[in-house]
Amino acid sequence: MSRRHRCCACSFCVFYNIVLCFLLSLLIFWLIFLPKEPKLLVTNASLTQFDFFTTNNTLFYNLALNITIRNPNRRVGIYYNRIEAIANYRKNRFAMVTLTSTPFYQGHKNTTTLQQVLVEGQQVVVFGEHDISKFNSETAAGFYSIDVQLAVKVRVRFGKFKTDYYTPSRNINCKLKVPLSLKQTSADGFETTKCGNVNIFSDPDSAG
Ligand SMILES: *[C@@H]1O[C@H](CO)[C@@H](O)[C@H](O)[C@H]1NC(C)=O
Ligand SMILES: *[C@@H]1O[C@H](CO)[C@@H](O)[C@H](O)[C@H]1NC(C)=O
Ligand SMILES: *[C@@H]1O[C@H](CO)[C@@H](O)[C@H](O)[C@H]1NC(C)=O
Ligand SMILES: *[C@@H]1O[C@H](CO)[C@@H](O)[C@H](O)[C@H]1NC(C)=O
Repeated sequence: MSRRHRCCACSFCVFYNIVLCFLLSLLIFWLIFLPKEPKLLVTNASLTQFDFFTTNNTLFYNLALNITIRNPNRRVGIYYNRIEAIANYRKNRFAMVTLTSTPFYQGHKNTTTLQQVLVEGQQVVVFGEHDISKFNSETAAGFYSIDVQLAVKVRVRFGKFKTDYYTPSRNINCKLKVPLSLKQTSADGFETTKCGNVNIFSDPDSAG
C-alpha cells in the first residue's frame, strides 16, 4: 500500500472507532436513565356553557379542566417552562390558553396537579352542516367531544446534565367527553381520561 492509502485506511479506522464509541455511550446513557414519558390525566372536566349561535357563527364556551402530570422516572427530572392548552371541537380550534403562570420543575416520581384550569370566552368558528348536526345531537345527550391538545416547552435533567428548552414536534392529545354541568348527575359525570401522543423523549424535534 502506498503511504497515502495507508493513511486513508488509518483515518477511516479512527473515524469508525469514534462512531462506535459515540453509539456505545449513547446506549449506556439510555440504559442508565431509561426515560419514560410523563403520564398526563384529565381528572375532571365540565362545561358550564357551550352555546353556538348560527346567526353570527359564534361559540360561547366555559370549560373547566383538572389536569395532573406524573413524572414516572427515577433518574430524570423535567422542567416545564410553558404548557398551552388548545381546545378543539370538530377540528375547529376555539380556544388557546396558557396553563403555566410560572415555570416549574418536576422531580423524580412526582405528580403535579395544575390548578383547575378555566378556558372561557367566545370564538367565531366555521361549522359545516355535519358539525352543526353533531353539535345538536351532543347537546341533546349533554356531552361534547372536545379534543384538548397540550403544547409544552420543556427541558430535561439527566443527573447533572440539563438539555436546553425545546418543544416536542407533536402536541399531547386529550380526547375528552365533557358533560354540560347543568345536565350532569353523579351517574354520568366525567371519566378520568389519559392523554396520548406524549413525545417528550421520543420526538424532541423542534428547538425553541
Ligand atoms: C367535576 O366537576 C364538576 C363541576 O365542577 C363537579 O360537579 C363534579 O363533582 C366533579 N367531579 C369530580 C369527580 O370531582
Ligand atoms: C352573536 O349572537 C348572540 C346571540 O344573538 C349574541 O348574544 C352575541 O353577542 C353575538 N356575538 C357577536 C360577537 O356579535
Ligand atoms: C414533589 O414536588 C413537590 C414540590 O416541588 C415537593 O414539595 C415534594 O417533596 C416532591 N415529592 C417527591 C416525592 O419528590
Ligand atoms: C378539580 O379542581 C378543583 C379546584 O382546584 C378541586 O376543588 C376539585 O376537587 C378537583 N377535582 C378533581 C376530580 O380533582
